[in-house]
Amino acid sequence: MDSQPEVRILINRQEIEAAVSRLAAEISQDYHDKYPLLIDILKGSFMFMADLIRHLDFPLEVDFIGLSSYGKGKQTSGKVKVAHDISTPIKGREVLVIEDIVDTGLTTAFLLDYLQKKKPASLKLCSLTDKSSRRQVPVTIDYLGFTVPNKFLVGYGLDLNQKFRNLPDICFIEDED
Ligand code: IMP
Repeated sequence: MDSQPEVRILINRQEIEAAVSRLAAEISQDYHDKYPLLIDILKGSFMFMADLIRHLDFPLEVDFIGLSSYGKGKQTSGKVKVAHDISTPIKGREVLVIEDIVDTGLTTAFLLDYLQKKKPASLKLCSLTDKSSRRQVPVTIDYLGFTVPNKFLVGYGLDLNQKFRNLPDICFIEDED
């Protein structure tokens, strides 16, 4: 039988809510008259996106993109591909990508490059968390919630082998080895 790893809270739900409100205020200021398209990266960002857009009181659209970057467990494969594409044409649109975590940066850099080729009017990135100490390629995060330590995070949409997404707080798993 699989033993369940111990999880501990790193950022609690009240802190998340405060960060989401702050980010929404920043985004509102910049996009309230721009009818932006927010692109959510599946699956980890779904909860953040859902909470964020409830604070945005202006016209916008949402779309979703699925990327495969991580293999099983905690190690990245380093290879990124589009597993589920957006259905909205983005040429000439103001596009804001909504990410849960930027780790090595490989996934986000790939995605920004992929979207840039479709010639949006603007392309910016909002990430709830930034594991900046692990960065392998440079990524500019225009709207950032939290810089986080080099720990494996779960909860608030983030998973380990598809589990723990439903935890309402951002938690970490201590390395067993
Ligand atoms: P990157 O390509 O290394 O920046 O990784 C980006 C993706 O890896 C994120 O969108 C997450 O899906 C996943 N990821 C990176 N770090 C973590 C973590 O600590 N917990 C859960 N998923 C993570």
